[in-house]
This record gives sequence, C-alpha cells and structure tokens, in this order.
Amino acid sequence: MSLQQFIEQLDELAQSARQSFMGAGDSEELESARVEYLGAKNGRLKTVQKQLGSIERDDKPLAGKKLNEVKQEIQSSFDEASERLVSGPARTERDLRIDATLPGPSQNIGRLHPITQTIDELRDIMGRLGFSPAEGPEIEDDWHNFKALNIPDIHPARDPLDNFYLATAKNTAPALGDNPLLMRTQTSTVQIRVMEKRQPPIRIISLGRVYRPDTADATHFPMFHQMEGLMVDRGVNLSDLKTVIKLFATSYLGDEVPVRVRPSFFPFTEPSVEADYYWNGKWVEFGGAGVVDPNVLAAVGYDPDEVSGFAFGLGVERLCMIRYQITDIRYLYTNDVRFLRQF
Ligand code: PHE
Repeated sequence: MSLQQFIEQLDELAQSARQSFMGAGDSEELESARVEYLGAKNGRLKTVQKQLGSIERDDKPLAGKKLNEVKQEIQSSFDEASERLVSGPARTERDLRIDATLPGPSQNIGRLHPITQTIDELRDIMGRLGFSPAEGPEIEDDWHNFKALNIPDIHPARDPLDNFYLATAKNTAPALGDNPLLMRTQTSTVQIRVMEKRQPPIRIISLGRVYRPDTADATHFPMFHQMEGLMVDRGVNLSDLKTVIKLFATSYLGDEVPVRVRPSFFPFTEPSVEADYYWNGKWVEFGGAGVVDPNVLAAVGYDPDEVSGFAFGLGVERLCMIRYQITDIRYLYTNDVRFLRQF
C-alpha cells in the first residue's frame, strides 16, 4: 500500500469516528462506537494499523507518525463526545438568558421527622463523649425487661395492665417464673443484652422505641423513645453520672445549664436518682438514672466487687418537645404536614 492511500484511509477513519461519536445519543451508543473504532482487538483503527506492514520501508516513519496523530484525534473526539453526554448539549442563547440563581416556585421537599432529627443529634453528642450506639429488640422477654434488671417476679411493674404482653400459644396468662414476651417498656433491656455479650469497660447508649399501654394525652403516648446510657468500668460512681448528664445537657441545650439530681427508686439502680435541668426559668425532668445495682451486674455474670457502673434513661420526646416548645406529644405522631414542615 502506498503512503498516500494509508494517509487517506486514516483521515477518512478519523472523520467517520468523529461523526459516530458525536451522533451517539446515550452512553451505550457511545460505548459501542468506541469499540467499533478504538476496540483493542478488531477496532477499525487496529485494522488500518495492521496495514502499516505493507508500507515501503522509507515511508514507514511518516506513516507511523500519522497513525499516532489520528489515534489521538479519534481519542479526543471520543472524550469530547462523552463530556457532552454528561454535561448535556451546549447552552443555547436562550439558556444563557435564564438566571438560575433567581428563586423559582417554592418546592415541597421532605425532611427528617423531628424525633429522627433529635435522635441523630443525641447520638452525635453522646458519641463525642465516647458512648457508642447499641441496639436491642423491641419484642423482649421477661428476663431482659424485668428479671435481669432486678425486678422480682411479683413486682407490680409486671402488671398486664401496664405492659403489652404478646399472646401465648394458648392465650393464657403467663405463670410465675415463665419468660413471656412483651413489647419492651424501657430501653434498659439493652443494658442487659450488651453486658451479657461483652466485658467491661462498657460505654454505650441505646436509642429506640418503648411501649406502654397509656392513653394518649398531651404528655403520654403508648409508644415513645428513650435514650439509655450505660457505663461500666472499675470505680465508676454517681459523680461520673452527674458529670456526663451535665455535659450532655449543656451540649444539647447549648447553654451552661444547671443540673440537679433527686433521690428516687428503680429496682436496677442503687442509689437511684431523678435528674432535672434548669431551662427557661424552671426545673425540667430529664429522666431516671443511678448507680447500677450489684444484683444487675451479678445477673450478667460480672463481679460487683470488681466493677461498677451508672445508667440513665431519658425520654427523647420530652427533650425534643422542650427544645422546640411543642406542647402536645400527639402532634409528633399524627403526621400532619403543617406541623412536620416546621422542622
Ligand atoms: N428505665 C427507666 C424508665 O424507663 C429509666 C432508668 C434507666 C432509670 C436507667 C435508671 C437507670 O423509667
């Protein structure tokens, strides 16, 4: 083949490759055009390249140079075409007259539910304090919801009127010592689940739903969320608990907030406290807390003489409602967009 013919072939190839690439309507078409022209095995460029062998020896350097040029040319046509597919066709005169920074009609975009937003924020704050999230099931058994938490068999907290028990096979009331299933009434269940599996040091939070058969009113709802915190290590005590609660309150409310604890009672903590913080001119109840009862540590196989811990359980709805001045918990669960849109 003469040099002249070789060069002509290459020029034609470059031209028709460019036409194919630019004419491709989507990335699939472009890809098959690429394979046709640039394919490593049977691409058309390869086919022409093979003819290089039949060129006169003296013409070979020139032919080779031309081949490389055309190769590059075809490659850049391809790049240009794929760029165009990504960024869309060139802007027209009319497009250029549109000011995309002007506000258009307002759009209704969805957003996270205020409780979800609150949960995310609580998880972040506690994460910065070194507490990592843990989870447990919402359907629990008597052991994790009561027994391991030092709530004895005959304790009134087990009353069927205060719990959503799941129906048994025969639908009979559970007998003493059974391990019936129920919707968990507190996230303290997760304390047990974590301690059963892991050894101290432990520093976890658990954020999730709990269920109690309360009639819905402004401050009650049969389902709500709690944030449980648990820290177990050597020598953990009540002042560690107060410190963490104070750091948490300051972080969440964004201000130096006074925190106080009042004596209280929970079967799984000793001593037990009720924690309050001072916000907008009054003391607001935070939730329950205390030093983990040695019986609880023993129930999960820890040695209460070696390790100690604190735990707390805060109501997420209450934290959210106070922050945003929501006056009725039912607003959170009626899914009225006029309410939800405000968050
Ligand atoms: N579980 C308790 C409740 O639901 C709160 C609590 C958690 C109290 C941890 C003490 C320690 O009321």
